[in-house]
Amino acid sequence: MTIPAYKNPALPVAERIEDLLSRMTLEEKAGQLNQWYNLGPDQYEQVRSGEIGSGLLANSSTAGNNRQERVFAKGINEIQKIAVTESRLGIPLIFGRDVIHGYRTVAPIPLGMAATWSPELIEAANTIAAKEARADGIHWGFSPMLDIARDPRWGRVAEGFGEDPFLVGQLAAGAVRGFQGNDTDAIPQQFPADRIVACAKHFVGYSAAEGGRDYNTTEITLHTLHNIYLPPFKAAIQSGCATVMSAFHDIGGIPLSAHRYLLGDVLKEQWGFAGFIVSDWGAVGELINHGVAADDSHAAELACNAGVDMDMSTMVYLKNLPDLVRAGKVSEARLNDAVGRVLRIKFAVGLFENPYADPDASQAVHLLPESLATIRQLAANSMVLLKNNGVLPLSSDAITLCLSGPLADQRQALFGCWTPDGQEEEVTTLKEAIAGRLGPETRLHYCELTDDAIKLARASDVLILAIGESAGRSGEDNCTTTIELPAGQEALVEAARCMEIPIVVVVFGGRPLNLTRVTDWADAVLFAWHPGITGGLGVADILFGDVNPSGRLPITFPRSTGQIPLYYNHPPTGRPMVANSRRHSRYVDSLDSPLFPFGFGLSYTTFEYGNLRTSPASEVPEISVTVEVTNTGNRAGTTVAQCYVRDSVASVARPVRELKGFERVHLQAGETKTILFRLGPEALSYLDDNGNEVLEPGRFQVWVGGDSNAGLGTEFEITSDGSID
Ligand code: NOJ
Repeated sequence: MTIPAYKNPALPVAERIEDLLSRMTLEEKAGQLNQWYNLGPDQYEQVRSGEIGSGLLANSSTAGNNRQERVFAKGINEIQKIAVTESRLGIPLIFGRDVIHGYRTVAPIPLGMAATWSPELIEAANTIAAKEARADGIHWGFSPMLDIARDPRWGRVAEGFGEDPFLVGQLAAGAVRGFQGNDTDAIPQQFPADRIVACAKHFVGYSAAEGGRDYNTTEITLHTLHNIYLPPFKAAIQSGCATVMSAFHDIGGIPLSAHRYLLGDVLKEQWGFAGFIVSDWGAVGELINHGVAADDSHAAELACNAGVDMDMSTMVYLKNLPDLVRAGKVSEARLNDAVGRVLRIKFAVGLFENPYADPDASQAVHLLPESLATIRQLAANSMVLLKNNGVLPLSSDAITLCLSGPLADQRQALFGCWTPDGQEEEVTTLKEAIAGRLGPETRLHYCELTDDAIKLARASDVLILAIGESAGRSGEDNCTTTIELPAGQEALVEAARCMEIPIVVVVFGGRPLNLTRVTDWADAVLFAWHPGITGGLGVADILFGDVNPSGRLPITFPRSTGQIPLYYNHPPTGRPMVANSRRHSRYVDSLDSPLFPFGFGLSYTTFEYGNLRTSPASEVPEISVTVEVTNTGNRAGTTVAQCYVRDSVASVARPVRELKGFERVHLQAGETKTILFRLGPEALSYLDDNGNEVLEPGRFQVWVGGDSNAGLGTEFEITSDGSID
C-alpha cells in the first residue's frame, strides 16, 4: 500500500502540505485553525472528527499546579493518539502553553531578564525553558512579549523587555533563538526535537493602553507604530520566530485581531512572515464587544480576512469558516493559506513523524544543577544597584546583620507573574540565601515585625529590608493607578532610618516603583525584580560581592505616578525641558528628570568613558564609533556601554536620543578596552508611515556612556551623496 504524499517525510514540506490540503474538507480545514484549552475527555469526539487543531495548556489545566498530579505528557499523548490514529487524516495537534520566564526552573521576569542587556543570557534561559517544556510534551510557548513599555501602571510591563525598541528587538532575537534553537534568519524547515516554537506577542501596540489599564483602547500614530512599536516584532521575525499573537485591543477604532493593514500588509506582505498568526484568548469573538462585528460569523470573517490564522479559545472559526467560504465571504485561497501556515509549523516541529511525548523525559531535564546555575547567574546579573554609599558589598566576617521587611522570607514574591510550572517550595528565599552565605563569625537576626526589627536592628551592624510588590501585583490584568510602594512600606524604611545604622533596601517588583524617598533614606538600594527560583541566592551573590552588579534599567524609573508616561527617547518638542525655566515643557511641582534614567545602574567599581571618535567606514553610509572604557575602581566588573544617536535635523522631529548599540564590557580593575559600534543605514534612518527607511543627509549627534544621560558626545555629518564627514 502506498502512503499518501503528506505522510512521506522524504518529500518536500510544500508538497506534503499541498497534498494534505487537497484531501481536506472545509470543516477539517476550519478544525486546523481551532485552538481549544485544557483538552480532556470532553473534547475527544471533536478531536476524532478533526475539529480541533491545537491544544492550549492553560494555567488551570487538568494537570493542575501540583507537580505530583502533573500529567501533561500522558494527557497530551492520550488525546494525540486520537488525533493521529482515529481522525480521518491523522493530523497531529500542536500544544501551546505560556512559557514566559522559565518553566520548572523559574527565571526572572522578562523585565528583569532585560536588565541584563544580554541576548546571550536570555537565549540561555530560554533554551533551558524550551527543553524543560518540550520534555513535558509542549511544542509551542507563548513568548516573547515584545510590547514597548512606557506606562508602568500597566501590569504587563513585567512580561516584556522594557521601553526601547532596539533593546527589545535585540533581546527578542536571543529569546527566539533560545526557544527555537535556530540561528537562521528564516523559519526553520525542522525545529530541533528538544525545543519549542516561539510566539511574538501581542501584535501590536497593546502596551499603549490608555491609563495603563489592561485591554484598553489605544491611539498610536503610524509614525510611532513604525518607529517604536513594530521594530521589536520585525527583529523577532527576522530571527525566524514562527508564530505571532494578535492582540486584544484596538488602535483608533480598529481591533488588532481584525487589522488588515498591520496583520496582512505589514506583517505578512512587507515583512514576508511565513509562520502563522494566532489570536489572543477570545480576541476573535471579542470583535463583537468592540462593536465591529455583528455576530460570531462576522467576527470570523473579519479576523480571517485580516490575517488571523488560528482562533484561540472561541470556536468561532470552527463554527463559521466553512459557511463563510461557501458564501464567498472568505476565499478558499485565504483558508488554504491559513491552514498551510499552521501545517507548515506542524511539519517543522516534526509532529507528523513524532507526535508523542515521552512521559518520563522531564525527570532527566527539569531543574538540572547546571540550569539552576545559569538562572542564578542571570538573576544576579539582572539586579540593578540604584544607590550605594559604600555599605555594599557586605563583609562576610564578624558582622551582625538584621534582615526584615515583608518580602524577606517570601517565596511567591521571587516567583513573578507567569509561573504555572514552578513549585513555590523550590524557591530559595532571601532569608535562606543569606543564612546560607554567612561567614563563621557573622550573625543574622531575622524578624518580620517592624517594631521588633527595629529593636534587633539596634544590636546589628547593617539592616537589610526586603520590600516591594508581591508577584501577583503585576502581569495580566494587574494594573495599578499608582507606582507608589504598597501601603506601609515607606513607613517601615522611614522608621528604620532613625536608628542610625546602615540600611540596605532590596526591592522586589514587576514594574518601576516610586523609590524617591526610599532612595533618600537608604544607604543602598538594590532593585531585584521578581528574580525567579534562584533569585534569593542571586540577591545574596550581589549583597556579599560575589557578583559585581551589572544590571542596567531597561525602563525609566519616574519620580512619581504623575510623570507617566516618561521615557528617554521622546521627541524634542518646541519647548524642551530646561531646568528652572518657565514656559517650557515641565511641571511646577516636580523635578523634570526621572528618578533613574533608562540604562542606569551602579557597580561596585566605577567606569569612565573617553576618546570618543567617529570615522567613516568603507561601506557608505556606515560609520564606526569607537570609545575607550576604563574600569577606574579597584575590582573587576562589567558595565554596559550604550551608544545613543540623534538625527539633529530631519523632516520629522526625531527623538532626543535613541539607543543604537550596546555591549556588556568586562574589565579588570584599571583595565581599558576600546569598544566599536557600527552604525549602518538602519541606525541612521527613520521609517516613514509606510514603513520604508528614510535616510536624510545632515548632522547627527552620538553619545556613548553608561546610561541614557551619557555626556560624552560628538557629531558627524552625512553629506547629500550619502558619504560621511
Ligand atoms: C491571554 C494573554 O494575553 C496572552 O499573553 C496569553 O499567552 C494567552 N492568554 C494564553 O494564555
